[in-house]
Amino acid sequence: MPNMFEVYQSYSDLYDELVNHEDYNNNLYKFLNNNIQWENKIVGEFGIGTGRVTKNYIDKAQKVFVYDNSQNMIDKAKINLSKWSDKIEYSILDNKQINSVENKFDIIIEGWSFGHLVVQDNETRAQTIQMLIKETTKRADKVIFIETMGTNVESSNPPGEKLAQFYHALVDNGFKEYIIETDYKFSNHEEAGRIMGGFFGDSMKNDIIQRKLEIIKEFTGIWIYN
Ligand SMILES: C[S@@+](CC[C@H](N)C(=O)[O-])C[C@H]1O[C@@H](n2cnc3c(N)ncnc32)[C@H](O)[C@@H]1O
Repeated sequence: MPNMFEVYQSYSDLYDELVNHEDYNNNLYKFLNNNIQWENKIVGEFGIGTGRVTKNYIDKAQKVFVYDNSQNMIDKAKINLSKWSDKIEYSILDNKQINSVENKFDIIIEGWSFGHLVVQDNETRAQTIQMLIKETTKRADKVIFIETMGTNVESSNPPGEKLAQFYHALVDNGFKEYIIETDYKFSNHEEAGRIMGGFFGDSMKNDIIQRKLEIIKEFTGIWIYN
């Protein structure tokens, strides 16, 4: 079974199938459109993946510059977002290199991407967190970070100390925190186990199959800096 990073590099269809089942109540769309003015804005999106976040605002935005370090994910995003190809510019970029981005934006957004860098960086995590905050807030008037607050759990909490450190730092640096539910829904528990397990691993798969779950809870944190 591929790990998450192998999924991003080579199995974007599997990832896309997963996120297509997430947020069946459309809460992310409602939140982003009730709270953010996207009309005519220049947007920068980091870690675009297959374009799931982009779809929420692309109709209204004027121009969108998107980044990811996986060509495989970008190729799938290009298919998913082909309707809007005239207003999207794609680039391969590692989140560590945000300082090389020359564009200025009205809004920067990232979804479930910066958290990977924070978790991986055991040596200089605090500096990496400060870099992500500094390099985004100086490039846009409004910055939106979206990260997990727990998958297949009963209440919202940062999954682990490393992400907790990240989320605390966001609040300490002036980001306002919101938490929404973006639960997954599948047609039956076998499908849920196959797709969730393909990304999150066997223990998630076994739990879903054993408890015959068709709806899997997901809590999502949204941090906004103005
Ligand atoms: C969980 S997916 C989120 C994708 C998309 N934002 C979404 O909401 O579905 C994480 C994405 O971040 C990208 N990614 C992970 N680490 C990265 C890094 N260091 N630099 C740039 N992109 C990275 C992956 O290739 C993947 O597309």
